[in-house]
Amino acid sequence: MQDTEEDIANISDKASAVRAGLAGRSIVLVGLMGAGKSSVGRRLAQALDMPFVDADQEIERAAGRSIPEIFAEFGEPHFRDGERRVIARILAEGQQVLATGGGAMMSAETRECVRERGVSVWLRASFDVLMKRVRRRSNRPLLQTDDPEAVMKALIEERYPVYAQSDITVESRNVPHMVVVSEIIDALACHLDGATSPQPTRTEES
Ligand code: S3P
Repeated sequence: MQDTEEDIANISDKASAVRAGLAGRSIVLVGLMGAGKSSVGRRLAQALDMPFVDADQEIERAAGRSIPEIFAEFGEPHFRDGERRVIARILAEGQQVLATGGGAMMSAETRECVRERGVSVWLRASFDVLMKRVRRRSNRPLLQTDDPEAVMKALIEERYPVYAQSDITVESRNVPHMVVVSEIIDALACHLDGATSPQPTRTEES
């Protein structure tokens, strides 16, 4: 289903309240590969009238290489170094919606930086939803193995307890992106108001 101008207009009132509540902090989207951080983040930024930045794209720009090339030429530790530095730099540049790569929050330094300068939003998704989405593309070096399912399961085990420390959790699933955007805005409004964020809701898969 296409997102419409009307969808965006409908949430604009809450959007101004959220922007005010953020008081200059960024919104930082976290979650596994395939959770929809970039596609949801782009629409969230549009709805809130904030700049959108994709950390992976910034890392690629800084390195002058694609992520698969960085992994292949320099290895994962080099990528993680760049990721940590690029995210710290982006968060120091002012308020924005930032989509992080799936491994970014495994760095304690990055978690601290996000805590200081942002509100974190975990886009949680089931194994099935993640696998269905990541199968469409081959640009993720960690999944270029004989058994990407096993890798994804291991990453869920390892990372979900860390993502769970996020300020807000919203369930990413097969519904139009604007449904998830609107739930994030509701949860942010609640969180910034000092209340407990609502539990993630589930609706029919489309
Ligand atoms: C990674 C996720 C990727 C990218 C890199 C490593 C990870 O980003 O940063 O391939 O460790 O989970 P997405 O989560 O945007 O796919």
